[in-house]
Amino acid sequence: MKKRVTKAIFPVAGLGTRFLPATKSVPKEIMTLVDRPLIQYAIDEARAAGIKEFIFVTSRGKSALEDYFDHSPELENQLRKKGKTELLETLKSTNMDSGAIAYIRQHKPLGLGHAVWCARRLLANEPFAVILPDDVIAAETPCLQQMVEAYAELGGNMVAAMEVPDNRTNAYGMLDVKEDMGSVVSVKGMVEKPKIGEAPSNLAVIGRYILSPQVMSNLNKLKSGAGGEIQLTDAIAQEIENSENVYGFRFRGQRFDCGSKAGFLQATVAFAMAREDLRDEFTDFLTDMLSVRNAAQ
Ligand code: G1P
Repeated sequence: MKKRVTKAIFPVAGLGTRFLPATKSVPKEIMTLVDRPLIQYAIDEARAAGIKEFIFVTSRGKSALEDYFDHSPELENQLRKKGKTELLETLKSTNMDSGAIAYIRQHKPLGLGHAVWCARRLLANEPFAVILPDDVIAAETPCLQQMVEAYAELGGNMVAAMEVPDNRTNAYGMLDVKEDMGSVVSVKGMVEKPKIGEAPSNLAVIGRYILSPQVMSNLNKLKSGAGGEIQLTDAIAQEIENSENVYGFRFRGQRFDCGSKAGFLQATVAFAMAREDLRDEFTDFLTDMLSVRNAAQ
């Protein structure tokens, strides 16, 4: 019987230099899309997928992230006294149960594979999810939930996947497809950030993974790969060599690369437009902005 996936690792140790100077004092994951920090989107997605234990791999300077998940009794009391029940509920939805959340430090920035490996002692011999909070996915059914459902049928190892243009294949882990079954592909190879023109397909890995415990063992022995870093992609690719199944899952939804400024802005606009309380005013504003721009051209 396939085991249920109840633990997720969130690698959040990155310095976020692309967002300097903001990230000088604010962890990137606390930056907000509309009014919710990036990390909240990742947590909500994990909860929807049935995740019960949340493992953050952090680094120096990320304490604001730990505080964010704490209860804030004074604030809650104030809101209660003032009868602001809706805000109170919003606040409570960010609370985590005691013991449900763990923080591990990655002491050196040695790559995504290394970050995941730092959490090895918190996992038993069980499959686990990895969520990269930079990849924000707007979807009717949250992406990881879609994957958990597919995983229940297939088992093995599963990565979220999406087609990217030829000139972007050097920014992702790329899949070498064995068999394309539509929403799922089986994979015969994976390569991290190949040179342009050398990718085995246009199907890129997006930051959602469901992995077997064996991938963690592979990380134990792994040497550095692309960019001199220990790559998660390589540890998963080793499973193919071990004759284990690796699947790419074409999720239904829109992915935003919130690790880049353009992607972050696009996500902000998309999430604002999706909000009932903001939609009308914001759409009017955007329409005005566009007509001003078009008139100037
Ligand atoms: C990481 C992974 C890469 C994956 C990407 C998805 O790269 O190493 O395989 O395609 O996330 O966002 P990063 O963007 O952290 O360089």
